[in-house]
Amino acid sequence: FPGAATFVPDTLDLDDLAMSARECRGCDLWEPAEHVVFGAGSAGARMMLVGEQPGDQEDRRAAPFVGPAGILLNRALAQADIDREVTYVTNAVKHFKFTRGSGPRRIHQKPLRSEVTACHPWLQAELRAVDPEVVVLLGATAAQALMGPSFRIGASRGEILALGDAKAVATVHPSAVLRTDDAERDAAFDGLVADLRVAAGLLT
Ligand code: URA
Ligand code: SF4
Repeated sequence: FPGAATFVPDTLDLDDLAMSARECRGCDLWEPAEHVVFGAGSAGARMMLVGEQPGDQEDRRAAPFVGPAGILLNRALAQADIDREVTYVTNAVKHFKFTRGSGPRRIHQKPLRSEVTACHPWLQAELRAVDPEVVVLLGATAAQALMGPSFRIGASRGEILALGDAKAVATVHPSAVLRTDDAERDAAFDGLVADLRVAAGLLT
């Protein structure tokens, strides 16, 4: 893939970046998707949260983390005493990758590493524009996009990581909590909340 670099304007204005992302053809994921889903939230946010890619609902509504994973994330943020309104929420990949099943439902497909790499210039531009103190990496795709391909959530979740001038904390993806068996789901949710608390504790 050619990558997003030539589509990213030289600006720190998030609205200009989001507008330009609508024209991105840096990989093939733009074509079947309905919308680009750029990050959303406060330009002055001290905490940035990074997911994998938009899901079905996010693609329809052109907003990050508004579907089932977003509802669970909101609950976890609230329990960790983090106000989502003062964060900036985005994804490693800005277009929804899916396959069609037999019905109307579109089935999420994990992005290739080459697609994550193609989209990386948008994430870098968001990091420059928001300049957060703390970055929360939700799941392996986000964590590996920013910490490198050998990063393992299982081994390093909840640790305080360095990411340029910022600190970072990696944790499980909210969708992984949703997929956890009933018997284990509360514990998985509590683990997400605990890692979010670590991140909140890093805010100065
Ligand atoms: N999963 C993600 O990683 N991001 C979203 O925006 C929604 C679901
Ligand atoms: Fe561009 Fe990223 Fe969409 Fe690919 S996924 S077209 S790189 S915005």
